[in-house]
Amino acid sequence: MSETELTSLQSELLTAIEAASDGAALEALRVEALGKKGKLTEMMKTLGKLDPDARKAMGAALNAAKDAVSVAIEAKQKVLAAAALSERLEKERIDVTLSPRPMGEGRIHPITQTTDEIVTIFAAMGFATAKGPDIDTDWNSFTALNMPANHPARQMQDSFYMPDVSDGLSSTEKRVLRPHTSSVQIRTMMGQKPPIRIIAPGRTFRCDYDMTHTPMFHQFEGLVIDEKTNMGHLKGCLLDFLRAFFGIDDLPLRFRPSYFPFTEPSAEVDIGCSRKGGELKLGNYGDWLEIGGCGMVNSNVLRNCGIDPDVYQGFAFGTGIERLAMLKYGIPDLRTFFEADMRWLKHYGFVPLDIPNPAMAG
Ligand code: PHE
Repeated sequence: MSETELTSLQSELLTAIEAASDGAALEALRVEALGKKGKLTEMMKTLGKLDPDARKAMGAALNAAKDAVSVAIEAKQKVLAAAALSERLEKERIDVTLSPRPMGEGRIHPITQTTDEIVTIFAAMGFATAKGPDIDTDWNSFTALNMPANHPARQMQDSFYMPDVSDGLSSTEKRVLRPHTSSVQIRTMMGQKPPIRIIAPGRTFRCDYDMTHTPMFHQFEGLVIDEKTNMGHLKGCLLDFLRAFFGIDDLPLRFRPSYFPFTEPSAEVDIGCSRKGGELKLGNYGDWLEIGGCGMVNSNVLRNCGIDPDVYQGFAFGTGIERLAMLKYGIPDLRTFFEADMRWLKHYGFVPLDIPNPAMAG
């Protein structure tokens, strides 16, 4: 064996090591070169037959070759291990994100949207939200609101009474589909002590049906009771709300004297508009549009709820939610709100997360 043979064996081995495609091939090469019966090991065994000078030279060359091969194997091992790891990382990658649910179809109904906007604005003014049932007692809906049985004032909100199961039911037993959310005033005053500051949105029922009336519709009620609240607060509160809701900074508001059994004095609330050219436009244009009723809570109502009118006073107001939605979003016919027509809902409904909600406007 000569040094030339050794040199070519070494370069053969190094080339093969460099070309090894995996750990097993590399291990086979290691055994082939450095194993017990490996080529370099075998060559070591032949050193003894050489004379001392040649042995020394050949021994050094052999050791250098063994070192070179070992270093090459080790380096290749690292390269192969790194490649194997990145392949594994690539293959075993887990996507922990959840793709969003498709949202193309559903819409938020204008009533829901408008109710959210109303509640949001009043929440910013310190009002809590109160709820009452759609079917309430005659007492909560009428009697406690200063409308005794058979009083003609009941006709203003004449209503769907539940059929009497027995004759002679008292006002607190007899039930009615509530004709207004004012019943929540009673429930609130019976259930908590002043100061009170609530807003109560919900369904209401009356026997009407035309372009601006449906037997079921929505109202929201406001109620503030404390020791000092006066009519100026009522007007300021409604003005702030209406300007925020319609987004019209100089929207004018007018109180027109009116009558409700449960408030004294009472007023009809009008906002400024224009009807020029048959088109309704809200703003400071000199014309007026009625949008709700209000007043200072009648002392009889306070007394009916166990609140001393000599200590406490306050105001209440009520407005139709559909009416506000129709005005704000230009919806011409009230009846369409409840026809469950998907084309209507697609047109007038709101895409979730795409809502011009004052809560999001900051
Ligand atoms: N409940 C009255 C209605 O439905 C509105 C209203 C509420 C008026 C509160 C005054 C105070 O017409």
